[in-house]
Amino acid sequence: MAKIGNIDVGEFPLLLAPMEDVSDPPFRALCKEQGADVVFTEFISSEGLIRDAAKSVMKLDIYEKERPVGIQIFGAVLDSMLQSVEIVEASGPDIIDINFGCPVKKVVSKGAGAGILKDIDLMVSLTEAMVKHTKLPITVKTRLGWDHDSIKIVEVAERLQDVGCKAISIHGRTRAQMYKGEADWAPIAEVKNNPRMHIPIFGNGDVDTPEKAMEMRDKYGLDGAMIGRASIGYPWFFKEVKHYFNTGVHCAPPTMQERVDAAKRHLEMAISWKGEKLGVFETRRHYTNYFKGIPDFKEYRMKMVTSDDSASVFAAFEEVQKLFADYQFA
Ligand SMILES: Cc1cc2nc3c(=O)[nH]c(=O)nc-3n(C[C@H](O)[C@H](O)[C@H](O)COP(=O)(O)O)c2cc1C
Repeated sequence: MAKIGNIDVGEFPLLLAPMEDVSDPPFRALCKEQGADVVFTEFISSEGLIRDAAKSVMKLDIYEKERPVGIQIFGAVLDSMLQSVEIVEASGPDIIDINFGCPVKKVVSKGAGAGILKDIDLMVSLTEAMVKHTKLPITVKTRLGWDHDSIKIVEVAERLQDVGCKAISIHGRTRAQMYKGEADWAPIAEVKNNPRMHIPIFGNGDVDTPEKAMEMRDKYGLDGAMIGRASIGYPWFFKEVKHYFNTGVHCAPPTMQERVDAAKRHLEMAISWKGEKLGVFETRRHYTNYFKGIPDFKEYRMKMVTSDDSASVFAAFEEVQKLFADYQFA
């Protein structure tokens, strides 16, 4: 049974990865309904939070039904990170996660995200200060290292644990790899197999089939799987993995009715959370996957992703439901 601090997150939990512009409250709620055991917000800038930037503050919203939920923050300046901890605490999350893995230039150039992998002492001291500043469990999400020649993840994980970090999610790539190549889970298993480690070690990177999640559990012996891209527009992925774990066979893919229902609820929740305009705009990215595989679907997808008003998008959902009611998804 994995525990993040005092929070019991079950046997081999499935975690929804923090994803910018994806892991918002509506999407997290859908993933939770489909079996995600822990969900995380997208990364939120500590500098934005302390300046009360509206965009950063809105990202703090959480729904009761998503718990346990972690709010992820990033930054490299101690004072800003500590002030952010206080702001984040006021939103009542269960966990505060620190992003030490974002590879994007504008983040890395400020020494934040994966940039901190060049200064492990700072990574450890920031984590320690944050742990001391809150009663909430502090967790870390990071990568294997800055580049192939500087992988020290076993030592880094031990030092993070020693200063009170309560769980570590590790993406099996270096910053230099960005998203290229295959994620390497062997170094993550080395972290887990270190006899000194006792906090949960979650594996991340390329889990896109139930079999891969099982491999992460059985072959690599990790404590849970963090899932990102495989869930975008496909919140059912969590249910499918759990079904496979329980039965050893794949469950049937969601029907057209289930897909349309999810797309509708997603859009409804998005509109009630961030308003008509943003709700319509920001839910678009999910539709391709919701309806993936249907032949000659372009015309309908275009209606969904180019309409500016929700009534037209809902009408497109209705049309698709009628036209493709009997379509058998593979
Ligand atoms: C669209 C997108 C946005 C992401 N945003 C974040 C983020 O805000 N914070 C973070 O720690 N990782 C972020 N990531 C990285 C994912 O959390 C995850 O580590 C990565 O996608 C590998 O997992 P996967 O192969 O299951 O997708 C993002 C990834 C994607 C695809």
